[in-house]
Parts: sequence; C-alpha cells; structure tokens
Amino acid sequence: MIYGVISDVHSNYEALSAVLDYLEDLGVDGWICCGDLVGYGPDPDACLDRIRALKNLSIICGNHDLAVLDRLDLEWFNQYARAAVVWTRSHLSDANRAFLEGLTARLNTPDFTLAHGTPRNPAEEYLMSPLQFRDNVPLVDKWPLFVGHSHMPLLFRYSEADADKIESRFLDDKEEGLPRIYGGVMAPVALNPGSVGQPRDQDNRASCGLYDSEKGTFRVFRVPYDIGAVQEKIRAAGLPEYLALRLAYGQ
Ligand SMILES: [Fe+2]
Repeated sequence: MIYGVISDVHSNYEALSAVLDYLEDLGVDGWICCGDLVGYGPDPDACLDRIRALKNLSIICGNHDLAVLDRLDLEWFNQYARAAVVWTRSHLSDANRAFLEGLTARLNTPDFTLAHGTPRNPAEEYLMSPLQFRDNVPLVDKWPLFVGHSHMPLLFRYSEADADKIESRFLDDKEEGLPRIYGGVMAPVALNPGSVGQPRDQDNRASCGLYDSEKGTFRVFRVPYDIGAVQEKIRAAGLPEYLALRLAYGQ
C-alpha cells in the first residue's frame, strides 16, 4: 500500500487541497492523518468535508480538535490558539462535529501506529527528543509510528551504526527510504510528516509525506500553496492577525 501522510491541517483548505492533489498525482492507495484537523485556520468545514471523503483513511484527532469539542482545557493554549478554538466552535457543521467526536488521539492498526503527540500522552506531549522516543518505544506494538503536533518533519530511530544511540533529525524533501525492515519486521521508527496547514520550520510550503508499506520507505514533500488567499480569509473571519502573518514565515 502507498499512503499519503498528513497532519496538522488546521483548517487551511488551500494547503490541504494542494497537498491532496499533489499526493494523489503520485498514486496513493490510502491515507494517514495524525490529527489537528481544525483550529488556527478559517475553513474547518471545507477541510473536514474533504478529509472525510478520503478513501482508506486512518485518522486520529489532536489537541485542537479536542479543545473545540470542549474535551481539553483551554488553559493549555496561547491567546491566538484559544481565540481560534472558540471561533471554530461556532463554525462547524453538526456532521463534522460528530465526525470529530468519533476520533481518538491514538490509534493502533495492523500496519502502523498513530499518535498525535506521543503514545504515552497523545493529546499533549511533543515528540522532540531522543529520550522521549526511547521512553515511548515500549508502548508501540506496530511500527512505524506516525505523529504530528510539533508541526516539524522529523525522524527518530535507533542508529544503524550504534544500536544504543538514537538518530533524531529533521527531514527535508530530498531524501527517501528511511525506515528499515529487519527479517520482515519494521524496526522502531517515528515519523512526523510536518504540518499541512501551519509549518513551523521556516519553510512556508505545506508539508506532507508518502509511505510505501511494502518497500518500507517514507519521503517528505513540500508543496507551495496560495498563502495570500488564506491570510485574506483569516482576516475576513476576524481571527487574530498573527495567525495570518505566521503562515508567510513558516513559523
Ligand atoms: Fe497542531
């Protein structure tokens, strides 16, 4: 199977549309979505309508989705994120709210594991360090582990040269073939495709990934989209100006 891997769409329809079109052109049999479908951006319903129509979709929710459903305390959010959560609550159809209510922040499948943040704390912890990766390894039954939340395209795995060391680094859009398979069993590896709708690695292009489960390969792609159109919608919706500005800077 070849999966399109997306995360942290955050109600950015222009970015989502560009990414889905790009991955579909590459040939995709299924989809993986690591949560935070809404929050920050101006198009929650349009994004959810498009995501719900994806075939063979494995999907989880993120902390912003849970906050919109009033299942996570807004105390954990900064003022801009909080304003967007409150705005999203009154701009979501009943059908899309019901869809979000049916999602969990962690999902085990026969082929891979999904957690928005980490397996041990899927709604809140950012997987950013080798130590966190090591601590979460015993909690995963099926590799690879796909995560989101940090909005950074990242890789964590045990070093090929020294099994006691953990390799931890950013992924760019020029490398391929990262996961390793030993004797038919996928070695522990955590992969973050980066954020579709609000990248934070100073590259303002939408980020996404392609996972080939038979070859055991994963690759990150960066896709340009109409940032100006999204900024205009953010302003027209009365959402904080900062949420429009940060898209141009990729942060
Ligand atoms: Fe997010």
